[in-house]
Amino acid sequence: MSIYRWCVRPILFGFDPERVHEATIRACRTTARTGFLLRGLHSVFGYEDARLRVSVAGMEFPNPLGLGAGLDKNARAAEALAALGFGFLELGSVSARPSAGNRVRPRLFRLPADEALVVFYGVPNEGAAAIAHRLAAVRRTVPLGVSLVETNTGTMGEVEHVIEELVDAARPFLGLADYLTLNLNCPNSTDGRSHFEDPRNLRLLLERLQSIEPLPPVFVKTASPAEPGAIDAVLEACDPFGFVKGFIPSAHAENCRARLKTPQEALERMSGSVTGPVNRQAAHEAVRSWYARIDRRRHVLVGVGGITCAEDAYEFIRSGAALVQLVTALVYRGPGLVKRIKQRLCGLIERDGLGNVAEAVGTAKPMKR
Ligand SMILES: Cc1cc2nc3c(=O)[nH]c(=O)nc-3n(C[C@H](O)[C@H](O)[C@H](O)COP(=O)(O)O)c2cc1C
Repeated sequence: MSIYRWCVRPILFGFDPERVHEATIRACRTTARTGFLLRGLHSVFGYEDARLRVSVAGMEFPNPLGLGAGLDKNARAAEALAALGFGFLELGSVSARPSAGNRVRPRLFRLPADEALVVFYGVPNEGAAAIAHRLAAVRRTVPLGVSLVETNTGTMGEVEHVIEELVDAARPFLGLADYLTLNLNCPNSTDGRSHFEDPRNLRLLLERLQSIEPLPPVFVKTASPAEPGAIDAVLEACDPFGFVKGFIPSAHAENCRARLKTPQEALERMSGSVTGPVNRQAAHEAVRSWYARIDRRRHVLVGVGGITCAEDAYEFIRSGAALVQLVTALVYRGPGLVKRIKQRLCGLIERDGLGNVAEAVGTAKPMKR
């Protein structure tokens, strides 16, 4: 971490966060076009261990640590990001139509005292057709998922329209994406409100999706409260649809802004949702609650929210997550983090006398149903 932390990060943090994000994606794209640079990334950051391999929803993952949605929105950097050693990448979120995202600037902020970000992008992306076209040319080394979202127009569309939009966003990725994620509660558009808070609408969406083929495994990313009743309502809505293979509970800690070390006066100038460690406890509890209620023969969980090290990832896994994702920690801890997490995960498996990481899933003391 030290070269990144002491030499690279101070330079990057001297520039506007959105510009650095864009420049990083461009650098990844250039790297991927140059075979020897890509191989260089592999040899510096690669780390494989058979104990980390997992088989989830019919897909084979070299390890359970993935990149969460939002970093590579337009699938421009997938090959280089895969070379950093992620076990899978979630690209997007992608909408049916192109969107410039929220108009206000700045719309990405760093909170170094909290290793957090404030995100107010409003899902800018080039639209499903263009992104699918690009994805078709990607040389794959790990499963590539695509996160789908309604087009951000600044207002909330009628539910029928939003459903058609999501189906239109999915269509170009059939046969291309290894899995799809339905991003049902984008906190940066439509004021974070979502038609799909009502499980009847989720069911309507899934009914429409079912009519397009061949659907890959679908994960549902939802910010619905991690309470038994709310979880059961989502599970019930998804029950008739065998293509729904799992859930990504995206928990936001209540009053998370009040718990940050960053001064409140500074925070007041930053609209958006906070990502990073402040949400970890809530996200972790959400995974525990979901794990107690899902049918484990049918569904898996993907843990995300504030993962910064192997211990965090392992805690999510022990609580029931078959896969985990991170985004914010990459900004603060740099590309070497992926390898470090994987190496240390192997140590944790060994410490606990397990044969592989899959054996650790759900081994934490179970929660009462
Ligand atoms: C810059 C940024 C952009 C994001 N954009 C999306 C997005 O488009 N779709 C989505 O489902 N999640 C998005 N997220 C949320 C992440 O996928 C993840 O759920 C969240 O950041 C929590 O993980 P973390 O604490 O490791 O960052 C974004 C996060 C960040 C930091």
